Amino acid sequence: MVYSEKVMDHFANPRNVGEIENADGIGEVGNSKCGDIMKMYIKVDDDTISDVKFKTFGCGAAIATSSMATELIKGKKIDDALKLTNKAVMEALDGLPPVKVHCSVLAEQAIKAAVSDYYQKKGIDPEPIVGIIPECEEGHCHI
Ligand code: FES
Repeated sequence: MVYSEKVMDHFANPRNVGEIENADGIGEVGNSKCGDIMKMYIKVDDDTISDVKFKTFGCGAAIATSSMATELIKGKKIDDALKLTNKAVMEALDGLPPVKVHCSVLAEQAIKAAVSDYYQKKGIDPEPIVGIIPECEEGHCHI
């Protein structure tokens, strides 16, 4: 399996790893097939994601995509962060091997879950804004 240099870099030196104390939103998603788990913490100021950190019990591709995803949403408005797709994250990493594409979905879902949590804490129904966070599809996850 061949990984791009960017994937290797973000895997070896992941950005924004850790937790945020008193986070405004926390999202946890799991991939039922491979058992990998991702937790995303966001801090929100003025509708902007001022800080983001993640922790994952996941494969190298999940670490690299989360690292890149956090870099891409940091400092962005919530609306723009929600538009981030796993495809855009993969492009920023110069691609992923096809069997690892599903791993990038975990990061996208974790961001959405954290934003949902943020709205919920504010007493706002997140579903019209964030949508329903899809589960990992059966058969799409490889270890
Ligand atoms: Fe489970 Fe990559 S996220 S194998």
